[in-house]
Formats: sequence, structure tokens, C-alpha cells
Amino acid sequence: MRIDILTVFPEMFAPMDASIVKRARGKNLVELNITDIRSFALDKHAMTDDRLYGGGAGMVMKPEPICAAVEAAKEQAAKPGDVKVIITSPAGELFSQAKAAELAKAEQVIFVCGHYEGIDQRVEELLEAEVLSVGDFVLTGGELPAMIMADSVIRLLPGVLGDETSAEEESFSDGLLEYPQYTRPPVYKGFAVPEVLLSGNHEAIRVWRRKKALELTYKRRKDLLSNAYLTTEDKKMLEEIAAQAPKNSRVWISLLHYPVYNKKQDIINTSITNLDLHDIARAATTYDLAGYFIVQPLAGQKEVIGNLLRHWERGFGARYNPNRHEALARVRLKDSLEDVKTYIREVTGNEPVLIGTSAQARENMLGFSQMRDVIENKKADYVILLGTGWGLTGEILQSCDYVLRPIYGVGVYNHLSVRSAASIIMDRLLGEKS
Ligand SMILES: C[S@@+](CC[C@H](N)C(=O)[O-])C[C@H]1O[C@@H](n2cnc3c(N)ncnc32)[C@H](O)[C@@H]1O
Repeated sequence: MRIDILTVFPEMFAPMDASIVKRARGKNLVELNITDIRSFALDKHAMTDDRLYGGGAGMVMKPEPICAAVEAAKEQAAKPGDVKVIITSPAGELFSQAKAAELAKAEQVIFVCGHYEGIDQRVEELLEAEVLSVGDFVLTGGELPAMIMADSVIRLLPGVLGDETSAEEESFSDGLLEYPQYTRPPVYKGFAVPEVLLSGNHEAIRVWRRKKALELTYKRRKDLLSNAYLTTEDKKMLEEIAAQAPKNSRVWISLLHYPVYNKKQDIINTSITNLDLHDIARAATTYDLAGYFIVQPLAGQKEVIGNLLRHWERGFGARYNPNRHEALARVRLKDSLEDVKTYIREVTGNEPVLIGTSAQARENMLGFSQMRDVIENKKADYVILLGTGWGLTGEILQSCDYVLRPIYGVGVYNHLSVRSAASIIMDRLLGEKS
């Protein structure tokens, strides 16, 4: 394979002459060329950047020297064929192990390192380049990203790693983080190597490593689990890991029948819908919420809800469908939001944090991933408030600690039933990260 790196700072690439990359180059498993874009500049001052059209601070890299350098790199390739041109940019798609494996199959990869404010947009279009980022942060130039990407591609080339299996067992290769590794001494400062690794029992070691990889991924990168290759044995181990994981924040949900708006923005009391009672209770159980409150102050309505709950708690329903019984056991009927807060205070000793929801955009709303971060990082009792009718009143939303952004699907239509919205909100805040 041939890798070309085009840069205005060729002196930055000394690390590509050390360790495994040096060995790979020495064995001719990869041909690495670092080219100074300045040598393709058109004017006598070797200018590779210029001012921004439309105004703004900083300089942008000119298209002519870069395009000429890419064309020259392509022409120099001994085996012209499958060429990938990669522009490094924080505005690119995120680089990954899967992308490294894809690039490792190409005949030639050409990395273009940006600098200053970046590269003239026409380069991407003219060269049909892929734009890749190494993370959601901004670096001074594309040299470090190009080295990172080239390094991860080179170590996947056949013959580069001594032991062919070592790349297969590393983090990400099967969608999980790698298990912890140990070497001598067996005890260091009182910390011993796990006994199983000294046992010589290959099957026990395999199972231990797999469980540790799953544990680590569950703890640090849950988002990877939804795309990982998981066997039935893995899924069982994950269930055990999830059951043993320390629960930090508790999340509750509450459906308000009062006070809510009607179509004319009058404040009204709505009636119970049996489907909301069941479906939100079932979703709340699926996402392991601490409880589901129905706020309904009207006596007649409370009687109906009480009858329904009794049927599933103690009546025929409880025996006929134990799963439904389990879900509805989370439901608590309260007269007001104040009563919900008092209940949580009494049970947990904590002041609940209120998360309002609305189908309409307003000031100071929080995105789902931001809210998820708050829940994961700030230990508390959170209550998601859902409105019936035409939604929660302005006064309730004002009293919330956070208000979530409206849910949107793919267009502007977002008239969901409250039970659909409840499931989507629970999934976005607590479900598998995608
Ligand atoms: C200062 S950055 C330009 C940032 C650009 N103005 C923006 O906001 O997207 C200069 C160059 O560094 C490289 N770079 C910086 N951060 C990067 C990242 N996270 N991934 C890949 N390349 C990056 C790119 O080559 C970029 O053209």
C-alpha cells in the first residue's frame, strides 16, 4: 500500500519513523511519502493560503497547490488503482476502526492536512475526497489527525503486526472495548493479577476476558453495545452486568391531567385514557423508572383509575397477566404535582428535579443528549412531566428545572400521542445510545 501525506509542515512527521510503522516501512509493507504542499505553489513566495472570501478572521488554504500535489501523488503510484483521498477536518465524519479497515484495503490513500482556517471547499468537490475528523475538538492542523489515521491503517496491513491475531482482539474489532491486560509481577503494591489469568484454564480465561470487555464497554461506552456482535452468552452476561451496575440517578415519570391547556389555551382537567395508563407503565418498566405518577384530582376520575389499578394489582388481571401486573405496580395516583414532589421527598429524602416536556419550541430548552448527560453525571431524583390535552401550562413549565426540546421525527409534523412521546423520551434519555 502507498500512503501520501500532503502538508505544509513535513517536519512534524518524525513519529512516523519509529516503532511498528518504521518496521512496516522497512519491510516495504507500506510506502509512506510526506510531501510539502508548498513545492506545488504557483507564485514566487510559495503561497499556500489566502484570505477568506466574505470576510472573517484567518487564512484558508488555496486549492491549486493541493490539487496539483494530489495529482502528482496519484501519478507517482507504482500500481495505480483504488485511491482514497482524505481531507482532515473537524467538520468531517468521525474516523473509526471500521473506516481504518476500509482504508487498509485501498491501493493508495492520500491524506490532505489542513491548516489555519481549513481548506478551500472546492478541493473536496474536485478531488471527490472523503472528509474525516478524529474527534469533536479542534486541532491546529491536520498533521496529527493524518498520523493517527495512517498509523491505525498501517497496523492493519497484512504482516505488520507480529502476531496476526493481535489486531483482531483489540478494542473495537468486534464492537467492544478490549478486556484489561496484565504482565509480571503477579502482585504489585498489593494489587494482584486476577487469579483466573494464572490458572492456565483457557476456557475460564476466555469467559473472564469476554465478561470484562462487556463490563468495560457497558461502563464507559454503552453506545457501542447497540452495534456490537453479541452472542447469546454475551447477552446473558450483559444482563448480569446491568443488574449489578450501581444505579446513580433515579428517574420518575408523571402524567398530568391537571393543570393542562385545551385547544383554546384555557386551563382544564382532562380525563384518564386507559391506553396511557397501560402503555406508559409498560415503557416505564422497560426503562426501569422508579415510578409512574398519574396526577388527577377529580373524584370520579380517581375512582375509575382506582378500579383499573385494583384489577391489575389484586384482581383477576394480576393472575391472568403477571407482566402487566408488574408494570402497573409502578403507578401511583396523586392529586397534584405538589403531592408527587412530597412523595418523592418522603421516599428518597431528595428534592426532585423537574424535567418539563412540550411539543412546542420555547426559550432555554435542553437537547436530549444534553439532558442525558445531566442525568448520568448529576446524581438526583428526576421527574419527567408529561401533559395531557394541549400540554403543560406555562406556569408548570416555568417551575421546571429543565425543559426538553420537542421531539421531531424527520419532518416538522410532531403531533404525537402522549404515550408515544413518553416512550421516545424514555428511550432517548435512558435507552441504548445509538
Ligand atoms: C484550526 S483547524 C480549522 C478549523 C475549522 N475552521 C473549523 O472550525 O472546522 C485547521 C486544520 O486542522 C485540522 N483539524 C483540526 N481539528 C481536527 C479534527 N478534530 N479532526 C481532523 N482534522 C482536524 C484540519 O486539517 C483543519 O483544516
